[in-house]
Amino acid sequence: MFNPFPEKIYVTRPMLPDLQDVSNSLEEIWKEQILTNGGPQHQALERALCQTLKVPSLSLFNNGTIALITACQALELSGEVITTPFTFPATPHILAWNQITPVFCDIDPVTMNIDATKIEALITEKTSAILGVHVYGTPCDVFAIEEIAQRHGLKVIYDAAHAFGVEIAGRGIGSFGDVSMFSFHATKLFHTAEGGCITFNPDMKQHVDLLKNFGIKNEDEVILPGINGKMNEIQAALGLINLKSLEEERQRRAEIIKVYREELLDVEGITLVNLPENVRSSFQYFVIRIHQDKFGISRDEVHCRLKDYNVITRKYFNPLCSNYECYRHLPSAQPELLPVAHEIVQEVLVLPLYGQLSIESAKTICAMLRSFSPAQTCCMSQRGN
Ligand SMILES: Cc1ncc(COP(=O)(O)O)c(C=O)c1O
Repeated sequence: MFNPFPEKIYVTRPMLPDLQDVSNSLEEIWKEQILTNGGPQHQALERALCQTLKVPSLSLFNNGTIALITACQALELSGEVITTPFTFPATPHILAWNQITPVFCDIDPVTMNIDATKIEALITEKTSAILGVHVYGTPCDVFAIEEIAQRHGLKVIYDAAHAFGVEIAGRGIGSFGDVSMFSFHATKLFHTAEGGCITFNPDMKQHVDLLKNFGIKNEDEVILPGINGKMNEIQAALGLINLKSLEEERQRRAEIIKVYREELLDVEGITLVNLPENVRSSFQYFVIRIHQDKFGISRDEVHCRLKDYNVITRKYFNPLCSNYECYRHLPSAQPELLPVAHEIVQEVLVLPLYGQLSIESAKTICAMLRSFSPAQTCCMSQRGN
């Protein structure tokens, strides 16, 4: 019924600025002869991002994972941290790299984020923090988490890797919790090829900047066991250039999301993710949930069949982190304790979303999807299609 796309349609494509703009920035860097260590591009990007993200202070990093590892050090976390099993591997791994045990908490069936109503039962005398992930850019229940953390004297970190530009009632998502991390990996809406930042209150800035630069205070003093987490000038310059096209990229993605939503809204067996009205979207991912009993075929089969048509989708975040070899022995990783996560991980499928994806292609992907469902084919024939 459909011909495969002549070339692969990937789940995402990075924003690629005009090469002339990149070349102009490189000329500036060459003139300065400063390639890293908090040079002018780095300083300018930190200032610009504070405004864009609506946060009081932040520190740039060479990637989001090192940024999160450093955040644990800055907050002096230890023992156990309560987190979600439904996330990218980096989230629990950064705990393991700090000798902290991840304690997996089941997820909310609607937001797919850590279920705040289940956190308290997991708190022990070893718990030092809650690590929430704003999965696909949907905010965690930040107010409930703040309340629990305050009551138990816990720190709160957010992995906001997917949540660039997300706001709740006009407030930047990075201003919730003690620290939030944004990833600027090439797959993200805003990127610096590799990179990231953590956001926090200004009183943490000096400490974090020391930690990301080997703990070097001055020529004669090294006062902390720091790491090399610095973003270099070329990454920062790319970020400054990409910031200029951010709004256009968002607009384009919004148009594609509108098409996906219109075309898939009424498909039996497919659920779309709805953001609360006061939340600004990250435009990072477009995710659907496929319910095999109603749609007729499984998510895995849809994934394979789309691949046959050259449409590359992603089963983010399959497998659950609690099922990794390195974590499955943990008491909190037992499948019967994480029923919602186990159900959702079988259903989710991320569809291609990037500014240069044509509206026609998005419509064709939806038509392909609809054609896979025996239930839908039956409805179409009843409508005389
Ligand atoms: C939820 C989440 N956390 C952390 C990361 C790691 O970020 P980075 O690739 O910048 O190290 C990613 C992926 O990029 C992610 O999706």
